[in-house]
Amino acid sequence: MAEQRFSPKKQLLILVIVTLTFLVVYHKKWIMTLNLDQLNAPGYQKSTREQQRSMEAQETNHTTVEIARKVENPTQNPEMYVRENVKTITYDCQKVSQQRMETARQACLANNITPSKKPRHIGSLIVSNKYKFMFELTPKVSSTCWKHFLHDVVDPQCMGNVYGDGMLNTVKLNKTIEELEEYKKTIFFREPLERLVSYYYSIVHYTSVFAGRNKEFNDLIIRSGIRNHSVMHSKPKGDIYNITFSEFAQMVLFYKANSSISMSGHYQRVGYKLCLHDYDFIGHFETLAEDAECFLKLINIADHYSFPEIHVQKGNVRFNESLKSLPRNILRDLIEFYRLDYEILGYKIPKF
Ligand SMILES: *[C@@H]1O[C@H](CO)[C@@H](O)[C@H](O)[C@H]1NC(C)=O
Ligand SMILES: *[C@@H]1O[C@H](CO)[C@@H](O)[C@H](O)[C@H]1NC(C)=O
Ligand SMILES: *[C@@H]1O[C@H](CO)[C@@H](O)[C@H](O)[C@H]1NC(C)=O
Ligand SMILES: *[C@@H]1O[C@H](CO)[C@@H](O)[C@H](O)[C@H]1NC(C)=O
Ligand SMILES: *[C@@H]1O[C@H](CO)[C@@H](O)[C@H](O)[C@H]1NC(C)=O
Ligand SMILES: *[C@@H]1O[C@H](CO)[C@@H](O)[C@H](O)[C@H]1NC(C)=O
Repeated sequence: MAEQRFSPKKQLLILVIVTLTFLVVYHKKWIMTLNLDQLNAPGYQKSTREQQRSMEAQETNHTTVEIARKVENPTQNPEMYVRENVKTITYDCQKVSQQRMETARQACLANNITPSKKPRHIGSLIVSNKYKFMFELTPKVSSTCWKHFLHDVVDPQCMGNVYGDGMLNTVKLNKTIEELEEYKKTIFFREPLERLVSYYYSIVHYTSVFAGRNKEFNDLIIRSGIRNHSVMHSKPKGDIYNITFSEFAQMVLFYKANSSISMSGHYQRVGYKLCLHDYDFIGHFETLAEDAECFLKLINIADHYSFPEIHVQKGNVRFNESLKSLPRNILRDLIEFYRLDYEILGYKIPKF
């Protein structure tokens, strides 16, 4: 083997280098796709925008999006599409947003929730003076992604989450009421129970990276009498509390009945916000790519930025199995708890 000039390891290394060089030279765009996640990387905006352009050239601009057949009545709830199907329809995001507002207006009226004269709560708002928008974050509705995107990419000077709690007021922002009226106000929502399932898998379930801190849920479950003992799941790095979705759901219901303990914003109802204040655009998580683009157009920056690609969400994948694991009475109570959100946000109540 003395005549062999390169060991198998070196050969492999050379192969990898050659392949990478090839990719860099001939597939520049592909390399750029990889950078999508690195929101802070310089040049990020440009490369994604370029990509977007070439994609748009292939599509008939932005308004026609390949989404599919509608579940129910197309004129009333146009956002309820299922993606796995065949028909191509025209998705006009502004029109859909208008319809969402109308759905909300009627539901607010029917449930007697009237507009609030109080200023908006600033805690969950991202405010940009540069582009004149207010973006309201909803936990488990790609809020982390939006936060990074708006803070790190779009407007590093934008404000939000920096004031902590408190009301939005003219002094803090050094703007008059009239000036603030001009800001485009946007909020995104998601199917209410899917949001809850997503929260469970990302925070509470023993496979979550945050499960090390799930003792607090175990304590609450014992305190509320859902069960009297801890159930552990053994992991190589130590035991971790094993909390089922059903137990977590019962805990949410317990806190609904028991207002003396404050509930995490992650599973609180959110639809009522549409009754209290006006919004210029309402997006849905289920049509995030299209609605994000629509928002960027609304604030006139769609030519410079594009929202990063979206990854498959656990809430979505685990939705059916999670809801099916629930005893019927708990599922019924849970749906009852979120019924107002279903009505105001225009989502179809799931049937199991
Ligand atoms: C796409 O939009 C641009 C301007 O917004 C327009 O000039 C062009 O004709 C449109 N293309 C199609 C296929 O609709
Ligand atoms: C508030 O805004 C005005 C102009 O709109 C500016 O002259 C003033 O310096 C600002 N005050 C603060 C505290 O930023
Ligand atoms: C927990 O213990 C109490 C008192 O021992 C008992 O009444 C209750 O039924 C138990 N709950 C469960 C879920 O086992
Ligand atoms: C978690 O606990 C439930 C019962 O509370 C049990 O059915 C399940 O097998 C446990 N899972 C793990 C991974 O320990
Ligand atoms: C509410 O929580 C408190 C404190 O944990 C408890 O004492 C009370 O019994 C609970 N009420 C209901 C209705 O569950
Ligand atoms: C989830 O359940 C619904 C109704 O039970 C069904 O129509 C749908 O196909 C299921 N989705 C998946 C991904 O299994």
